Amino acid sequence: MFRARAALSAVLKRSGGLSGAFADAAAAASSGHRLLPNRLCASVVSRARLYKPPAAPPSLSKCSHASTFQCMSTAASLPAGSKEGLRLLVTGGPAAQKWVGLWLFGSAAWVFSMVVLGGVTRLTRSGLSMTDWKFTGSLPPLTEEEWLVEFEKYKQSPEYKRVNKGMSLEDFKFIYWMEYAHRMWGRALGIMFAFPFSYFLRKGYITLRLGLKLSALFALGAGQGLIGWWMVKSGLEEPSSEYAQPRVSPYRLAAHLTSAFAIYCGLFWTALSVVLPEPPAESVSWVRGAAKVKRIALPVSLLVGITAISGAFVAGNDAGHAFNTFPKMGDTWIPDDIFEMKPLIRNFFENTSLVQLDHRILATSTLVAVGALWWSTRKLDIHPAIRSLIGSTLGMAAVQVTLGISTLLSYVPVSLGSAHQAGALTLLTLVIMLNHTVRRPSPSLLKSLPQVARAT
Ligand code: HEM
Repeated sequence: MFRARAALSAVLKRSGGLSGAFADAAAAASSGHRLLPNRLCASVVSRARLYKPPAAPPSLSKCSHASTFQCMSTAASLPAGSKEGLRLLVTGGPAAQKWVGLWLFGSAAWVFSMVVLGGVTRLTRSGLSMTDWKFTGSLPPLTEEEWLVEFEKYKQSPEYKRVNKGMSLEDFKFIYWMEYAHRMWGRALGIMFAFPFSYFLRKGYITLRLGLKLSALFALGAGQGLIGWWMVKSGLEEPSSEYAQPRVSPYRLAAHLTSAFAIYCGLFWTALSVVLPEPPAESVSWVRGAAKVKRIALPVSLLVGITAISGAFVAGNDAGHAFNTFPKMGDTWIPDDIFEMKPLIRNFFENTSLVQLDHRILATSTLVAVGALWWSTRKLDIHPAIRSLIGSTLGMAAVQVTLGISTLLSYVPVSLGSAHQAGALTLLTLVIMLNHTVRRPSPSLLKSLPQVARAT
């Protein structure tokens, strides 16, 4: 990462036009003059048109405090220059870039913690303790009477009747607090995302492109709450068979987890794009090397994503409580009931044996694929940051497989189950960083690069 940052600053130095805009801001600040955001915006925007005459388009003069969206659209409607040059997501100079980046990395970290908290909630079997849901949330029970009312509602649920009959009020309070914390942590994230968003919009830092991306992520976040409740509802219904344990639908659990992964990946990618608008590239030869890595890294990343989603089905079917042996599944390599459900397709998502077998095969293929990525790129002439990201991804894939096997062999304890879930997100983080680092630089940066990197 440090090398990547060094490369970015080299990129910014080379793009004299852009750093000139930043210098404008710095000069204004040091001379005690407050550069109006609209002026600053216009300055960055016009200088971002690298290697072009810096004349600002007439519409820029309309960019003002009151017309943030106009400013966003002006910043984003730089077609001619920005296609050739650097496409910044944030206007307002390096300080704005830093604050918006910090806010987005912080939001991504918050989503990471939400996923882990959600996993702990599921693994401690706390997820079905709250039997109703309000979009805006509500206070927890505050008096003993209110606790008794909530407990009474839970006693009507199939989980209480079939799994937790005779549970004490104290134990109920524990599972209730777990679920309550998960829900409120999600709402707090919404607030912590929305307030800085509107502040940065008012300051005119957010380009239209970034504004649209973040609005889509915000909508996904709000939808995530709805999906969460849709999932919980399925676990509050009476199971079809009198012997079955009440459990949320594996499809809904997978939808909830996949959507959380998508929000996390979207936020993390966007944060990287804000602070590192150009990939690290110091020579044409390194850019060519990065392009070769990209061709392999993309399908490998897709495989990591599919393996993670298949894990959601293992969790959703409680498939980790069957076949607690490795590498064989019980006494055989392939259980004989993998296709017992009709229609056939259902087995892939609902049959414990096949769901677990799929996850094992996908996980092993992921490890082999990441290993192949490392092997096939080990002699390439590439940026050191890319090489170290490939190495870290391979190391993390090995750790994740080890965690998965340990989770299975020890009958899914809360500690290992949550560590395995956090491991999946860490692996996703690394593949996002890798894909972000091997992007193609802007044409203007490409034109300015030497054929081979200077020796350091
Ligand atoms: C690259 C490798 C792997 C990835 C990306 C991965 C990903 C995941 C994910 C995302 C989950 C859902 C977690 C949750 O919602 O709690 C999961 C669950 C699970 N995985 Fe993996 N996994 C990998 C390897 C393995 C391996 C090799 C095994 C063992 C053979 C394994 C066994 C399990 C089990 C038993 C669960 C269910 C745990 C639970 O009920 O919470 N995983 N995996």
